[in-house]
Amino acid sequence: MIVLGIETSCDETAAAVVDDQRRILANVVLSQVDAHRPYGGVVPEIAARAHVEAVDRVVDAAMHESGLNFSDLSGVAATGGPGLIGGVMVGVMTAKALAFTENLPFVAVNHLEAHALTVRLTETVDGQMTPFPYLLLLVSGGHCQLLMVEGIGHYRRLGTTIDDALGEAFDKSAKMLGLGYPGGPLVESRAKDGDDQRFDLPRPMRGRDGCDFSFSGLKTKVRQTIENLPPGDLQDQDVADLCASFQRAAGDVLAERCGNAITMFEDAHPGGGPLVVAGGVAANTYLRGRLEQLAAARGIGFLAPPVALCTDNGAMVAWAGLERLRQGDTDPLDFKPRPRWPLDPDAAPAAFAGVKA
Ligand code: KG4
Ligand code: ZN
Repeated sequence: MIVLGIETSCDETAAAVVDDQRRILANVVLSQVDAHRPYGGVVPEIAARAHVEAVDRVVDAAMHESGLNFSDLSGVAATGGPGLIGGVMVGVMTAKALAFTENLPFVAVNHLEAHALTVRLTETVDGQMTPFPYLLLLVSGGHCQLLMVEGIGHYRRLGTTIDDALGEAFDKSAKMLGLGYPGGPLVESRAKDGDDQRFDLPRPMRGRDGCDFSFSGLKTKVRQTIENLPPGDLQDQDVADLCASFQRAAGDVLAERCGNAITMFEDAHPGGGPLVVAGGVAANTYLRGRLEQLAAARGIGFLAPPVALCTDNGAMVAWAGLERLRQGDTDPLDFKPRPRWPLDPDAAPAAFAGVKA
C-alpha cells in the first residue's frame, strides 16, 4: 500500500509518499516563513494564496522524488482540518482532484491525528511498529493536549490548555524579545547561551489536580520582565537569559502535568505503553530531554519522532491516511474542510478554555 499525503493547514506546503513498510519514499516541505516574516506571524490570506501557488509543484516534486506514478498509489490523503481554513481547502481540493482523475480513494486526515500517529511511522518498540496504547503529549502552535491514544480514531483527552498553546507562547515571547518568526527554534537556540535561573517566571497550573495547561500568564510575565529591565535596547545576555528561563519554566510545567497524566494513564492501562511527544514544539531538544528524564524516573518508555517530522510535514499526513485506508476508512469527494476537529469529541470542555479546547 502506497499513499500520497498533502499538508497545507498552516504555513508549510508539504507532500510526501509513504508505504506500508513504514518507508518514506518522498518528503517535500516548502516553508512559507519568508512570506510571513515581515508580519511577525502567519497571515491566513497570504498562507492560502501561497499554498495555491505552490501545491502543484510540491506534489510533483514528491512524486518525482518517489520515482512513482499516480497509478502506483493506493490512495491520496490531505489534511482536512483543523487549521487555517483557506489553506486546508487548497490541500483538500488538490487531493480530491487527484483522487477523482486517477480513480483513487481520498482520505481526509485530522492534522492532530497525523501528529499523534507519526511515532508509529518512525519509531519501534521491540522491533515492531509502536503499538497502542500510548500516552501522548501533543504540543504545537495551536494545541497543547495530553491524550491516551488507544487506537486509530480512539483518543481520550486527559487535559488541554485553557488559554494559549505552548508553541504560541514560544512564538509570542520570541516576538516580544525581537527574535522574529518562527519563534520556537529561535528561543531554543538563544536559550543555549542563557542563565535559566536569572528570571523567576511562573509555572501556571503547577500543583493542581489533573492535566490541564495554561501559558498566558507565563507569556505576560515575559512581557513584564522585559518592561522592568533598564531602559534602552534589550541586551543580548538579557534575551538569552529570558529564553533560558522561559524554556525551563515550560519544561517544569510540562514535566509536572505529564507526571499527573502518567498516573492517570497507568490507572487506565496497567503496564501499558510509553510517553510519546509530538507536534512542532516536540522539536525542542531541551523539552524532549526533560520528558525523557520524567519517563525514566517513572519507569516508562519515551518516544519522539525525529525532529524534522515533529513540525508539519506531508509524511505524517500520508501515514495517517495509510493507517485509515488500511482499515477501510475513506472519505467522499464532498468532504467539507473543518476549521475545528477535536480528536476526542466526547471530552468535557476544559474550564475557561473557550474555543481552544
Ligand atoms: O506542529 P507545527 O509545525 O504546526 C502546528 O500544527 O501548529 O508547530 C508549530 C509550532 C510553532 O509554534 C513553533 O514555534 C513551534 O512549533 N516550534 C518550536 C520548535 N520548533 C517549532 N517550539 C520550541 N522549540 C522548537 N525547537
Ligand atoms: Zn502541526
